[in-house]
Amino acid sequence: MKRIYNDINLSKRNSFGVSESAREVVEFDRAEDIVDYFRGSRPAQWYVLGAGNNTLFTRYYDGVIFTPTCSALTILAESDEWVDVRVEAAHDWDELVAWSVERGLWGMENLSAIPSSVGAAPVQNIGAYGAEAKDVITVVEYLDTEALEVRRLENRECKFAYRESIFKQELRGRAIILAVEFRLSKIAKPNLGYGDVIKEVEARGEATPKSIREAISAIRSRKLPDPKVLGNAGSFFKNPIVERAVAEHLLAQYPDMPHYDVAGDTNSVKLAAGWLIDRAGLKGYRDGSVGVHDRQALVLVNYGGATGGDVIRLADYVCTMVCDKFGVRLSPEVNIL
Ligand code: EPU
Repeated sequence: MKRIYNDINLSKRNSFGVSESAREVVEFDRAEDIVDYFRGSRPAQWYVLGAGNNTLFTRYYDGVIFTPTCSALTILAESDEWVDVRVEAAHDWDELVAWSVERGLWGMENLSAIPSSVGAAPVQNIGAYGAEAKDVITVVEYLDTEALEVRRLENRECKFAYRESIFKQELRGRAIILAVEFRLSKIAKPNLGYGDVIKEVEARGEATPKSIREAISAIRSRKLPDPKVLGNAGSFFKNPIVERAVAEHLLAQYPDMPHYDVAGDTNSVKLAAGWLIDRAGLKGYRDGSVGVHDRQALVLVNYGGATGGDVIRLADYVCTMVCDKFGVRLSPEVNIL
């Protein structure tokens, strides 16, 4: 089944809450409902929109937006050590994390309270507090809109990296994710190394999936605005990865600058965009209906009534200020349409 909406306003379909419209939105259940769009004359412009937590619309979208609607969760197999589940794309990410945690399974607890759908999670390999979706994903199933068939990619074929995957590269504009398979562990694997996580968990007693979920949710709600209250798309920028020499030069000037190793690349260092924006004096900065969040400078917010253009102007200003002060270029994490 599919439902088609023409010239529809998207303000309820993006967490920034910007009021742009699209020529056509197609909510679909199964791949066979939409393959006809890709036979013969394909739409000149199309996009997959999940829950809309990582997309900024800046103008009328003169194309077709596909939104999956199926959200079934199926247990595929189970051993003494793990449970394999298949979850359809429209399933809410945090409901899946809650489901996993309630069963005492390990692997997703650090990814609690991230606004996302399951289908969007592999695209930018969502991550937080020392964990990434790639740590639990085993298979991604998608409609290949050129071959017109449903295909499966194993984890290692998805080319996951920091906020990256094959779905943002070779398969961009080609794949529509239908379902994701995960392996969750029955064996305790607490991952408490990031920031204040250990302190928050210890305050709750033993480290269990449940106590970690509560700790992470508490940390997130202290720092990050709830998109239902204040429009935003989480981190607007990626944490920039720079050459080690650049990081060392900056560290000589700013010894307290947070910096992280990049796995498998000793010549690169990851910096904290939030810290750079904060130190450029922009935390809490407001320009009319948009601003830099006052508790986490990496998040741009819509105070109400902002257009996508307003957000982009603010983002450009933030980039310029950070580049002028630190010589570091920020790039958006959010998809800008
Ligand atoms: N910092 C500041 N000022 C700020 C923000 C951060 O000084 O306004 C400093 C913090 O004190 C810390 C460092 O910058 O030393 C890093 O900050 P934080 O731990 O809050 O994480 P982040 O790098 O800002 C990343 C992810 C978040 C994720 C957190 C926790 C990216 C782009 N963002 O943010 O993900 O929740 O780590 O793991 O990697 C998202 O992607 O939407 C998102 C929220």
